[in-house]
Amino acid sequence: MEQNIALIDKLEAESCLSREEWIALIEGRSPSGAEYLFQKARKWQQHFFGSRIYTRGLIEFTNYCKNDCYYCGIRRSNPQAQRYRLTKEEILECCQIGYGLGFRTFVLQGGEDGRFSQKELEDLVYAIKSRYADCAVTLSIGERSYESYLGLFRAGADRYLLRHETADSNHYRSLHPPELSLEKRKQCLYWLKEIGYQTGTGFMVGSPGQTAAHLAEDMMFIRKLEPQMVGIGPFVPHHGTPFAGEPGGTVELTLFLIGLLRLMLPNLLLPATTALGTIDPEGREKGILAGANVVMPNLSPTSVRKKYELYDNKICTGDEAAECWACLNRRMEKIGYELAVSRGDFESIPHPEEKPPG
Ligand code: 5AD
Ligand code: FES
Repeated sequence: MEQNIALIDKLEAESCLSREEWIALIEGRSPSGAEYLFQKARKWQQHFFGSRIYTRGLIEFTNYCKNDCYYCGIRRSNPQAQRYRLTKEEILECCQIGYGLGFRTFVLQGGEDGRFSQKELEDLVYAIKSRYADCAVTLSIGERSYESYLGLFRAGADRYLLRHETADSNHYRSLHPPELSLEKRKQCLYWLKEIGYQTGTGFMVGSPGQTAAHLAEDMMFIRKLEPQMVGIGPFVPHHGTPFAGEPGGTVELTLFLIGLLRLMLPNLLLPATTALGTIDPEGREKGILAGANVVMPNLSPTSVRKKYELYDNKICTGDEAAECWACLNRRMEKIGYELAVSRGDFESIPHPEEKPPG
């Protein structure tokens, strides 16, 4: 316990730990250590964001995917997945509804669907950016070439999400088919940063075979990459995948890692994810109270919501966008926060030595 407090203090003061220290901190965690961590995490969260929670409207525009990740419900070898693609008009309609509700960031997320050409994607980004000049567009469409990322950036995309999933290459191989590699994934992330995207990475908590040593690698990789955003959520088994019978990740460990991320990179954009809200009805509130500062409600048309099933029992699949905004706003107000009508961009720290009051 004392060792844990000392490591939390050290993380806060130095923003990094050794592999052995990360492992000791994660393995030695306790409820009182977690409370100590969350208090510090909230202090930084308040320092940079006050009580304002950023929102991103998630538009799941295709569930076709050429990949076969062992954990994911929309993997190509799941024949039960009912495949769909939204048209440009349908996507723009989602944006229109979202804008009216207060969303100022649209996240276009999809499987790696070769049917959308580079030009179609650039046109789509351009169309959204010209209609909603005060909004940010985030892409989450997987691994692509440097040229493709550059073209999409020039078309107006502001941000890109690409989780590394695990920073240990053996563990990566155990979660993915042989054609996917951690090296390639990391290369994509460095390209995205180099091009100038606000870049998000992240990993699943409690994925099959994950150890504290793997999580230590995740923290050290994130420290080195210095992304603007990190999305983490519990692994939740999907019935139509090879990992159907594996145990899921826990709320407790996910929250602890959210707190650690907030201390390591205090101005990080850090969502309380839908997966966390799926395994605990108050998961997103708990995520915010552990240091997260972003929520990403679903803006996809209700007709396709259930089909974008990455994992079982995903929440909000029957709710209209307006209900999700109102529901989340209520939930945030209950714990002393509010949804912000703002792009919610990453802001770098002018004086890294600056400490929050108190
Ligand atoms: N459980 C939790 N998260 C999952 N993802 C994919 N499948 C699952 C699952 N079964 C996450 C991955 C991916 C993100 C879009 O969703 O981390 O990067
Ligand atoms: Fe979707 Fe609560 S956030 S209904």
